[in-house]
This record gives sequence, structure tokens and C-alpha cells, in this order.
Amino acid sequence: MKHNLHQEFQKTYGKEAAHTFFSPGRVNLIGEHIDYNGGLVMPCAVTLGTYMLTALNNDGVFRFKSINFNDELEIPIQNAYQKTGNSWYNYPLGVIHYFVKSGKELQGLDILYYGDIPIGSGLSSSASIEVVTAYAFNELFKGGFSKLELVLMAKKVENEFIGLNSGIMDQFAVAFGEENKALMLDCDTLDYEAVDSNLGDYVLSIINTNKPRKLAESKYNERVQECQTALKDLQRELDISNLCELNMTIFDHYKHLINDTTVLNRATHVVSENDRVKLAAKALAANDLTEFGRLMYASHYSLQHLYEVSGIELDTVVEYAATDKNVIGARMTGAGFGGCAIALVKKDSLDSFTKALTEYYTAKIGYAPSVYSSLIGNGVGELHEASV
Ligand code: GLA
Repeated sequence: MKHNLHQEFQKTYGKEAAHTFFSPGRVNLIGEHIDYNGGLVMPCAVTLGTYMLTALNNDGVFRFKSINFNDELEIPIQNAYQKTGNSWYNYPLGVIHYFVKSGKELQGLDILYYGDIPIGSGLSSSASIEVVTAYAFNELFKGGFSKLELVLMAKKVENEFIGLNSGIMDQFAVAFGEENKALMLDCDTLDYEAVDSNLGDYVLSIINTNKPRKLAESKYNERVQECQTALKDLQRELDISNLCELNMTIFDHYKHLINDTTVLNRATHVVSENDRVKLAAKALAANDLTEFGRLMYASHYSLQHLYEVSGIELDTVVEYAATDKNVIGARMTGAGFGGCAIALVKKDSLDSFTKALTEYYTAKIGYAPSVYSSLIGNGVGELHEASV
């Protein structure tokens, strides 16, 4: 922790923080761009995340400040809010918007946020701030919402307040994550199981390409649209309500119904990725990490060539990983278009992997990546220790 957050709160608001909440970020082991197609995904919460320190005020206002950003907001308690510009505080503002709309009685709050998730890295800093805010408001104002209702509220913020048509994976993972477990989540039914993420002799390494994401939102919404087109085409003969109800055998039989080649590629990724998650779950349960790693590479190549959400930076990381005998699997994680990749690296080779990858990547891309070895942590909650 780079900051003493309690001291910062005291400095900012001239009083003690009464509560500290934390929500993690997430990585997704496999199952990419299929949550909004009713697919299976396998995310884990990470130990990086967003801290939210708060205390009530008697001024009838919400004050939002962040250690990470200069822009701040003071806004009276009212019935509805609107997104203003592109500032970070639209995420908590969106949560409060839906909280107020639900008729809960609120009091003024002074809030200080701090996040150690690199922004724009694809590790879900936005879901993290949404969920920590929703959780805190629910606790402080006795909202009575279940955790799943808070997750759905946070997703609504992303979809309707912010305007990104994302699925439920990120908000779900940061809320329900468990230490050393991956969540096997069915995004259609929202049933999930926390499975042991036992990686044996390997560690999960997170590689931030440090490529600023550009046009990610519009490209993301375009992919969602393409999947809907594929679904409509298939529904001419199939009684399905999402693409992930199919497996590759059935899909091959009906794919002629999709006319557009790009749309066909997108759907092929979706259906094959869902099949891969099922195989990956089996491999993990059988401790077959070689097979798990193979599926990670296959997932990446599908995202690269069929779904086209990778890029030279992410591809370079995976390209290097595939040549390193101490790496068993690698892929981009999250929405793509920059952001992070993950790799399963032999425990005792992490330093040499980091060094060699950094050299390879820098020579090709012109700047260095950041490499973390991640700890898989818990989901959202209140922190009671005074250590932050
Ligand atoms: C983003 C979205 C998620 C999911 C991933 C891709 O992180 O927020 O809902 O679609 O991209 O798997």
C-alpha cells in the first residue's frame, strides 16, 4: 500500500473515516466475450482493488474524491443524477442514482477512493468501484439488497448510466470472488461454483501491456451487436435464446444460416469458447494443467483471429510465452484492445520469464510491459483492520 489511507482521509475531510470498504479487480482465466451470450466464464478476484473510506456529513451532500484523480465532485442528495463528462466519478454517481431511485433514504457522505488496479488495464477497475460503492451504500443505509441484487445494480450502471453493453462477469467476480478459487459462472442462470484454482508448480502471472485502450467501448458494443445478429440468423431455424446454448457440433450444422463472414467468425468464437470453458473446468478438476494451458492458447488465437479484439501488444506477449518452456499457457484477459494478458509460469522461473518477456516485448513494441504475480483474493467487503 503506497498510501496511509486513514491519514489521507483525515487530511482531506478534517475528520476520521468511520468505515473502510474494499472491492477487488478480476482476471478471467478463460471464457472471454461470452458472458453476454449466456456462456460459462471462469474469473477470479485479485488482491488489487478499490478502497473506499467514508464518514457521514450533516451537509446533505455527497463528496467524492480520489487519490488517483484530480477531479472531484460535491453534489446535493437528490432523486436522479446524470452522467457528466467522462470523469471517474460517474461510476459511483451511477450507483447512487439507482440506489436513490429505489426509494432508500440516504444521508450525506464524504468519500475518499483509492485504487491500485492500473486504470484501463482490463482488470475491471470500473466494476470494482461500482461494486464497492453499492456494497457500502447498502451497509450504511440498510438497503436490504442481496449481494446478487447489488451486482445487477452495478451492471445496470455500466449498461444504462455509462453506456457499455457489458455482461455480468466483472461485477459478479468482484462481488463473489474467494481467495484461491476461480468462479465457474453460468452467465445465463447465474449459478456458480467456486472451484479450487490449484495451479500446482505454476503461478498466475498478469502482464499489463501498458497499451492505453482506445475505442474499446465502441468496438465492444459492436461485438455485442454482431453476436445479436448471429443469434437472429440462427433463430430462423433454432429455438434458442442465446448463442451459448449451442455446442460446436450443432453450430456446424446450422452455421450456413449466417450470411456475413465477419458475423460467422464472431459466432464461431463464442460457441467454441464456451466449449473450451467446459473442457478447461474438467482439466482443472483433473489437475491437468497442460491441457488447461493448451485451451488458454486456443482461446487467445480465437480472440485474435475470429473475434478480433486482441492487438499487436497482447499478441506479442502470447507469442513470447509460447516460446518459453516454463510457460504452460497464456492468453489475453478481459475485453481486449490492449489491457492485460495472463500466463501460467513455473514458480521458480518467474524472474527469468519476466526478464526475457520484457526484453522481447520492448524490442518489438518500444516500451516495457508491467508483470505482476497475482494473488487470488476475496470479493467485496468491509475492512476492519486499521492497516489501510
Ligand atoms: C469486459 C466486460 C465483461 C466481459 C469481458 C470480456 O470486461 O465488462 O462483461 O464481456 O469484457 O469477456
